[in-house]
Amino acid sequence: MITNITYGLLAGILILLVFISYRLSNIIKTSKEEGNSTHEGMLHFSQNLIYTSVVITIAIAFGLTYYFVKGTPWESHLMEWLNIIVRVMHITFGIAWIGASFYFVFLENSLNRTEDVRDELAGNLWAVHGGGFYYLEKYKVAPKEIPKNLHWFKYEAYFTWLSGFCLLFIVYYFNASALLIDKTVMDITPFQAIEISIASFIVAWIIYDVLCKSPLIKKTWLFGIIGLLLLTGFAYFYAHVFSARAAFIHFGAMIGGIMVANVFFVIIPSQKAMVKAAKENKPLNPQLGKNALARSLHNNYFTLPVLFVMVSNHFPSTFGYKYPWLILIIITLASAGIKHYLNLREKKIHSVWVFPVSVIILLSAALISAPAKNPNECKSEVSIVQVNAIVQKRCISCHSSRPTDDVYKVAPNGVKYDTPEDIVKKKDLIMQRVVITKTMPQNNKTNITEEERDLIRCWIEQGAQLK
Ligand code: HEC
Repeated sequence: MITNITYGLLAGILILLVFISYRLSNIIKTSKEEGNSTHEGMLHFSQNLIYTSVVITIAIAFGLTYYFVKGTPWESHLMEWLNIIVRVMHITFGIAWIGASFYFVFLENSLNRTEDVRDELAGNLWAVHGGGFYYLEKYKVAPKEIPKNLHWFKYEAYFTWLSGFCLLFIVYYFNASALLIDKTVMDITPFQAIEISIASFIVAWIIYDVLCKSPLIKKTWLFGIIGLLLLTGFAYFYAHVFSARAAFIHFGAMIGGIMVANVFFVIIPSQKAMVKAAKENKPLNPQLGKNALARSLHNNYFTLPVLFVMVSNHFPSTFGYKYPWLILIIITLASAGIKHYLNLREKKIHSVWVFPVSVIILLSAALISAPAKNPNECKSEVSIVQVNAIVQKRCISCHSSRPTDDVYKVAPNGVKYDTPEDIVKKKDLIMQRVVITKTMPQNNKTNITEEERDLIRCWIEQGAQLK
């Protein structure tokens, strides 16, 4: 009864908000037609306010639903859908942000700066896209008059951060004991883990920002090396505090956080100051532009490493390696190198060694994380009965039609080992997760032994027979 009344109330509020929003858009339309622009800012503000209320109402509905389904099998279903929605938002904002950023770096690198360029311009570019021809011009400093409708690229970055943080909350903070903490790495409480997580992001930004404001910023090579050492320090730290999987995501979130903070604290304020100076016809402080450019260059090199980290959860062979931080740093270095190569290419500078060296560095990660060649000989034939017994003991608390685990109420990724046939069908994934990367059982919650892992390996190597 209470449930129905609450949902009814929320639905009523939503319908009301949509109705107000509809009326408001009509008012905006008529005031535009009448050329009455005085109220337009106010009206748009109200419209945004209504959208925000809609989002808040939906969030409240989710919160309430959580309250109602807590402790039932629906709880994990709800979290899964929350995960899907926020993840898709995160990816979409991220693409919009990084896409625009790649595009402007490309533009900067490819501008025609010599032929037919008016005095006040730095360069121009002709392009064809989506069935239309485009002509773009870049000003050396600023146009004589700042246009009224100036497009700013900033919300993409802010919303990427916001949705990313929500995702971190949904996946890692909310279920800290399952995914964030690995007691074999460090035995901490969920609250401590979350504190460390948030503090690390703030500390990382402060260190980076101080470095950027120091004279070091002028020495590109030294800055790069110190930056890499600091990143290594953070990767090492995360790998020794959190589960390997969470360590990877934290490394990416930390760099991503720095990128957004660069936009919020440096790039946008510099641009605002530049626009203000241009409007007041005052001389521009060239340092502002330089600061913003340095930060966006850093962001540019950060993109590929962050993108790798964001998909790394699909690749247990990377975070499952015994020194996860090493893989992280190698891939960071290699992917930043590849970005460097792409930047040079756009500037039509053909570097011979940057690309091959980056690829070799990348391949070294694949090489060192490769599985060891048969550490122990398989002495006797292993039967499915033995393997099934291990799986029943160590896996089905999570991977069955009726899990008994305290966190997972439905089989994770739909992986179930109810019958021996199920085990045979999934033998390759089992090899990958239990033997090679040792990332299953998750955080070794069910205490599988090395002997048991070896038995499973031998059974698979002997052909994974159902007998
Ligand atoms: C504490 C719960 C838990 C236990 C115990 C557990 N798993 Fe998992 N397993 C998970 C979760 C959560 C995932 C999904 C996340 C991931 O891939 O890391 C997963 C994913 C997997 C996957 C990957 C499926 C895919 O689609 O990629 C395999 C394979 C797997 N588990 C096998 C096993 C085996 C074999 C055992 C026993 C030796 C085991 N797990 C024990 C929780 C568990």
